[in-house]
Amino acid sequence: MCGIIGVVGSPTTLETLLEGLERLEYRGYDSAGVALVKAGQTWRARAASGTESVAALRQECAAAPGGFQSGIGHTRWATHGAPITTNAHPHLDCSGNVAIIHNGIIENHRDLHDELEAKGHHFTSSTDSEVLAHLIEEWRAQGLELLESVRQSLLVVRGAFALAVVDAQEPDVIVAARRISPLVVGTTPGATYLASDVPAILDRAQAFYAVNDDEIVRLAPEGFRAIDLEGAPVRLRQLAIDWDLETAEKGGYDDFMTKEINEQPDVLRATLLDRRRNDGTITFDEMGVSDDELRAVTRVVLVAAGTSHHAAQVAKYAIERWARLSVEVDIASEYRYRDPIVEVGTLVIGVSQSGETIDTIQATREAKRRGARVIAVANVVDSSLAREADAVIYTRAGLEVSVASTKAFVAQVAALELLALRLAQLRQTLEPAEIAALFTSLNAVGEKVATTLTRRDQYEAVAHALGGARDFFFLGRHVGFPTALEGALKLKEVTYLHAEGYPGGELKHGPLALIEPGVVVVAVATDPAMHDKILSNLAEVKARGASVVAVATDGDETIGAVADFVLRVPATEPMFTPMVDVVPLQIFAYAMARGLGRNVDRPRNLAKTVTVE
Ligand code: AGP
Repeated sequence: MCGIIGVVGSPTTLETLLEGLERLEYRGYDSAGVALVKAGQTWRARAASGTESVAALRQECAAAPGGFQSGIGHTRWATHGAPITTNAHPHLDCSGNVAIIHNGIIENHRDLHDELEAKGHHFTSSTDSEVLAHLIEEWRAQGLELLESVRQSLLVVRGAFALAVVDAQEPDVIVAARRISPLVVGTTPGATYLASDVPAILDRAQAFYAVNDDEIVRLAPEGFRAIDLEGAPVRLRQLAIDWDLETAEKGGYDDFMTKEINEQPDVLRATLLDRRRNDGTITFDEMGVSDDELRAVTRVVLVAAGTSHHAAQVAKYAIERWARLSVEVDIASEYRYRDPIVEVGTLVIGVSQSGETIDTIQATREAKRRGARVIAVANVVDSSLAREADAVIYTRAGLEVSVASTKAFVAQVAALELLALRLAQLRQTLEPAEIAALFTSLNAVGEKVATTLTRRDQYEAVAHALGGARDFFFLGRHVGFPTALEGALKLKEVTYLHAEGYPGGELKHGPLALIEPGVVVVAVATDPAMHDKILSNLAEVKARGASVVAVATDGDETIGAVADFVLRVPATEPMFTPMVDVVPLQIFAYAMARGLGRNVDRPRNLAKTVTVE
């Protein structure tokens, strides 16, 4: 979950690290730190100032001497040990020469800690990561060079890591390694870089390479070489990176969340581009599972977390309705540990914006281990999930920076519904004309989303009117249910207010007891087939004093009888409504959060990519 960066050979080592850390803050910002190395000297600075950690670190670094040959930097999302300066990375060994940064969890850190302490090592933090510095120190003391010391150390380490190590005795070298947690290497003439995420080094490096699990890389100014845990040389695969820095900037908006909400029409267009051939065939260029294999599918299991899980839930309705396949949707962190059944014909789809969410990666690994074919629906090209799956469908949403996912959701729903149409096509469960009509409707969704964006002021006005509310229930039926879940998640993430999503029909089975004056009920009421039922639900909560907000279609006059506030959206083919209906809910959450003075891009306690279990 932490962000890491390193550089060797740059004339601007410190500035490269600080700028990179500023771009990595979305991975965690409990604390930040750097270690800079020149012959015989390791200089370290750290700061733990919550969301201002990198800014505070920059101030600390004003006192840094010059002439450094290499350096490493870290932004932390705390897992072991409080978010305080002594737990901030980099961590040093006893000599003060070796400095390490680490993203992940060292599962056997307690045993290693005790062994190393018994040998006389002195620990200064309560992190799991610090054992790495002392382990490496042990091997350095035996005369091994840094690369070999790291390799030997990793042979006894259990857990997940992306790590980087510098040593004042080898100032022109950084050693980095990866198991599970993401790591890329970048090169440019005279300097070599590493980072947990490409944007951190995007404007510095010219070529980018993916480090795979259990590979160790030695970075030097002239380039890098990589080995596996046995010490055998390995070649790193070059990545195709098509982002420019502008993509990672706010594009003139106050924050990334607004920028990303506004990008949704374009994102939908991009996700749907070139997906249907002239003969009507739905196609995925990057798909590595054959048509015959897709025809042989007898059951679909979707695994995902958070917003991606809500998109997966929408897909269940579409695949079952159109392709007549039985679909299960599982929370990724639950799937792995419940002894799941994988039969011949089971297709597992892992859905993830980042492609690095550890729960989703581990769930798909478990599915693969049990013999399933795995498709990744991922946004980040060449991410771990994408690389490990048998096939990948990219959502083409572009870099999403705001912790609260918005544009990735609509792209995921579009990609998954396209896949549902493809399955229906192969299984001949829909007529070609039906598929053509649905594809046309799907293509029109971007325009409808654009229309909702022109109504931003109306949605914000509803949020302002409800500014004092503290309890929210989001209701929906059919695909309106995952939309309601997503609306509730957005609100709680960025406002820190209590919000829950429920299927409308479930209300009377318990939650109704919580409805009283002051509570706000937000209902997704755009599906004509479910309209009367939702209206009945709203009448029930209104009778008990709740304030009612409804997402309703243009021209729906009946909604006014039960709703105090209406968030109007254009009418859409019911299965595609989540992509349209979610927009007023995103803007509603955003406006509530701004009203409360929240940092919408970096909500407390959260990180953009969750790479620890
Ligand atoms: C979304 O707003 C959240 N920040 C979070 O739930 C996120 O969707 C989840 O962590 C999954 O991330 P992924 O799509 O990158 O796998």
